[in-house]
Amino acid sequence: MKRYLDHNATCPPVRAAVEAMVRASAEAYGNPSSLHWAGRAARRVVDDARDALARYVDCESGSVVFTSGGTESNNIAIHSVLAACRPGRIVTTAIEHPAILKPLQQFVDAAGSGWELIVVRPQANGRVSDAALLQVMTEDTRLVCMMMANNETGAVQPVATVAAHCRRIGVPVLVDAVQALGKQSISFRQLDVDFMSLSGHKIGGPKGVGALIVRRGVRVSELSPGGGQERARRSGTENVPGIAGFAAALGVVDFAAIAQVRDDFEAYLRSRIADAEVISADVERTPNTSLVILPGMDGETMLMQLDLAGFAVASGSACSSGKREPSHVLLAMGVAETRARSSIRVSFGPANTAEDGRALVEALVVARNRLKGMAGLAV
Ligand SMILES: Cc1ncc(COP(=O)(O)O)c(C=O)c1O
Repeated sequence: MKRYLDHNATCPPVRAAVEAMVRASAEAYGNPSSLHWAGRAARRVVDDARDALARYVDCESGSVVFTSGGTESNNIAIHSVLAACRPGRIVTTAIEHPAILKPLQQFVDAAGSGWELIVVRPQANGRVSDAALLQVMTEDTRLVCMMMANNETGAVQPVATVAAHCRRIGVPVLVDAVQALGKQSISFRQLDVDFMSLSGHKIGGPKGVGALIVRRGVRVSELSPGGGQERARRSGTENVPGIAGFAAALGVVDFAAIAQVRDDFEAYLRSRIADAEVISADVERTPNTSLVILPGMDGETMLMQLDLAGFAVASGSACSSGKREPSHVLLAMGVAETRARSSIRVSFGPANTAEDGRALVEALVVARNRLKGMAGLAV
């Protein structure tokens, strides 16, 4: 039996999204920039999707720029701010996705760049303290980049407080809301930030489509200049089926309802594996996410064992230059390397049941006993 428990990596497309994509591919095949009937039909699909997304995240339709996903949205925002101002300080957090950390590092590393990157570490509970962030804001801070919720721990971050402070002192803010979309209520208007990144495939939409929400009046400089689509903020013929699928997926998955499955899993895990540790358990988390450390077990080995048993989960590690690196998020939280290597991330979705969680725990118990047996330890 196959059980998919890796929804933070990607959420299987919901039926409404698949249907919208098929319909848009078959019927709205014109180029949205064409003036004839076929172009106008495709334009309507894109505009309706724009309105739907704007309603969903509470912003103006004109603020929505469709992109290829969270990575591109983050890159466009970072480039738009940093390429247009004098070098100064950039503030971010150590738990950001590489789609934030890498482009920022690139700016800083450019020869003679003059940029100073301040990377604020999270507390041991996975939440970055707002006070720690506010403390490093100086007059020459040019950009603050932070996520709304972490993809590994699920820990919800204090974006509202930081955004309000930045607004007062006139510092632009980019919020990476890729993992928060659908899992927390989002009001771009209330948050009052300059940029917000979103991605379709984390909520049951298609892969390769997302959006950058841009505050009215904020300049966007294109990463790939071209035909001037999306009001010259993101050139390239729009991915009409992808955009239609993204909009159709909004609000379909009830992530809040998944919390019960996650909580049951964690309770059962604790009852069966006494030394299992649930990370960020004492802070607000996205409802479907559970990052656990199983001391003495290698995350990669566990993942492979679970894969053989039909479970799709993630290990916290990342692959860089062929070497498995422990999760930068756990390390930043002060978790020792060996423990960080013993983590797996379980992220539940709408089709999962309490039975999936229990079966996973049983599979972990079996895997652990087998590994202990192989190591010649008492089971
Ligand atoms: C927090 C966060 N930001 C950005 C991304 C990148 O999004 P995309 O896959 O749409 O490029 C991800 C994807 O895992 C993510 O979790």
